[in-house]
Amino acid sequence: MNVLITGATGGIGQALIEVFYKNSWNILAVGRNNKILEDLKLKYKDRIEIYSRDISKEKEIIEFLEEIKDREINLLINGAGIGEIGEFENISLIEEQKMININIQALLILTKYFYKKMLKRKEGGIINISSTAGFQVGGPLMCGYYATKAYVNSLTFGLIEENQEKNIKIMLLCPGPTATNFKGMKREIEGVKKFYITTPEEVANQCYRDYISGKKLSIPGKINKALYYINKFIPWKIQLRNIKKIQEKKYKETLK
Ligand SMILES: NC(=O)c1ccc[n+]([C@@H]2O[C@H](COP(=O)([O-])OP(=O)(O)OC[C@H]3O[C@@H](n4cnc5c(N)ncnc54)[C@H](OP(=O)(O)O)[C@@H]3O)[C@@H](O)[C@H]2O)c1
Repeated sequence: MNVLITGATGGIGQALIEVFYKNSWNILAVGRNNKILEDLKLKYKDRIEIYSRDISKEKEIIEFLEEIKDREINLLINGAGIGEIGEFENISLIEEQKMININIQALLILTKYFYKKMLKRKEGGIINISSTAGFQVGGPLMCGYYATKAYVNSLTFGLIEENQEKNIKIMLLCPGPTATNFKGMKREIEGVKKFYITTPEEVANQCYRDYISGKKLSIPGKINKALYYINKFIPWKIQLRNIKKIQEKKYKETLK
């Protein structure tokens, strides 16, 4: 079975590769960091193919799809994603647009392409990596990022329902704060943060278990899951105020 993973060079992507490799999958890994891609090749040898591609560029995605058009992809994981933190007026339009190109446009192009192929074969699966941010009404100090994840949630939920009788497995993965190099996060977690920050390995293991058992929505971490339910009862203005406090703290840490 072949799994194509974008964001393969990142914290969650690398952890996913490990889990899928251990479960006998072959991996097509997409990222840009050549050093990490080469290390992945050394580690997983003939069970991995590495593709250094900038998926913020539509042209590179189209060329990549042409290159692998004869390959059977049994599972697509749209994992690549970037975040920008700061006041809206201080994040350049170019940065906002790049975020949209990666978090939305690339995910849309790949999902549509492989979903249609999978429908023809009547087999396959797609995991879209969003975030618990996608459930929030908005994300002060990360306005653009939260908006991209709301898109991913909405698109994926819609597709899950459309697809009910079409036999393609579709799952939305919504991690909460995870210890990776993602903007505003750190790989090392200390002290009290261990209670609410998940490791990429926890996210990847939960993702695999949930996908195999046929779940449609996967939220790794007990606290993230609890907050997902509690959030439904919090008025939107209070939600926004709470998020602002959290993001302000994160933003200050990035400035240190
Ligand atoms: N960490 C968190 O707290 C958290 C929480 C919720 C959701 N998520 C989501 O989880 C996903 C993975 O994030 P992560 O935490 O693993 O972050 P990460 O370590 O920063 O990894 C991001 C990945 O996206 C890839 N990427 C970025 N720009 C790209 C481009 N132009 N072309 C191709 N690939 C590109 C990176 O590849 P290169 O570096 O090689 O370009 C890397 O593999 C993202 O969608 C993120 O939104 C993360």
